[in-house]
Amino acid sequence: MDPQEIIAQLRALTDGFERQLSGLESEQSIREHQAAFLSKKGSLAQLQALLGKLPQESRKEVGAAFNEAKQRIASQAHDALTALAKQAEAAYLQQYTDLSLPGRRPTIGHMHPLSIVLYDIVDVFVSMGFDVALGPEIETDLYNFEKLNFPADHPARDMQDTLFIEEGKTLLRTHTSPVQVRTMLQRPLPIQVVAPGAVYRRDDDPTHSPMFFQVEGLLVDKGVHFGHLKGVLDAFLHQVFGADVTTRFRPSFFPFTEPSAEADIQCIVCRGKGCRLCSQTGWIEILGCGMVDPNVLAGVGIDPEVYTGFAFGLGVDRIAMLRYEGITSIKLFYENDPRFLGCFAR
Ligand code: PHE
Repeated sequence: MDPQEIIAQLRALTDGFERQLSGLESEQSIREHQAAFLSKKGSLAQLQALLGKLPQESRKEVGAAFNEAKQRIASQAHDALTALAKQAEAAYLQQYTDLSLPGRRPTIGHMHPLSIVLYDIVDVFVSMGFDVALGPEIETDLYNFEKLNFPADHPARDMQDTLFIEEGKTLLRTHTSPVQVRTMLQRPLPIQVVAPGAVYRRDDDPTHSPMFFQVEGLLVDKGVHFGHLKGVLDAFLHQVFGADVTTRFRPSFFPFTEPSAEADIQCIVCRGKGCRLCSQTGWIEILGCGMVDPNVLAGVGIDPEVYTGFAFGLGVDRIAMLRYEGITSIKLFYENDPRFLGCFAR
């Protein structure tokens, strides 16, 4: 057979392949069509069988023509399959995508409600000239009790109330008051600090969590008296609970303050009439306070004849529960349920 005739037949074959390909609409039919031309028993292979009968000098030319034809068929089949896949994808998107829908906004984190309230409380004191001091949550018995004038048989020193790490030595601080001791040992006088932080007690019910937050306050200088304490805390309570809230100071007892008091606000729900929130008393206890006990001052090397001071401690969780009315359990603050926490984005 004449080499040119083989090449002409080859061309006719590939042209034919191309023509028929354009009418195919499924992946399977395209693949079958390709196989009919390129497989071992396909039309190209049949024609190629004649190659061996050609004179040596024309084999190279005809062989090259075969290779070119195979490549063309393969690449055309490939293009047809790609176009088909694109078409299918476009049809899918058309069916399931609504481009007129608004997009999904990325969710952005926000402060925990307790952090919001804690920062607000600290801000009020900072605006009155207080510095921020911090202390460790793992505390020594010395700073948590001893230096704060706790008698040896005080119930807070019992295993029932305190989470000890090593009994009589180290513990999880039960209040932020040890920061008073640390600050007085470390800072020069006069001292005016607030100390926010986590504290721990063996308590666990709807209004008590084994870990909760306090803000401690301490002011030591010459000539500080109870009027200063009342003035500062009264201003604070009005700042947090509103200018029209009624406050009162009630005598109380703490080992490290003398005299001691507790500050209450008139119930913000019933305005003093008595309701469930205030246990029918009309008042809600907010903080403990008092004049720093002379024993405590002397214990950290401050002369109580020259210097006096006042201290206070308040519960952040309690204030947060009042601020966000309707929170029935302190536990909600610690369960980290995003449905709850999401209510406080601002
Ligand atoms: N530490 C006390 C408590 O946890 C609160 C307090 C602080 C009272 C400072 C007086 C002065 O109950």
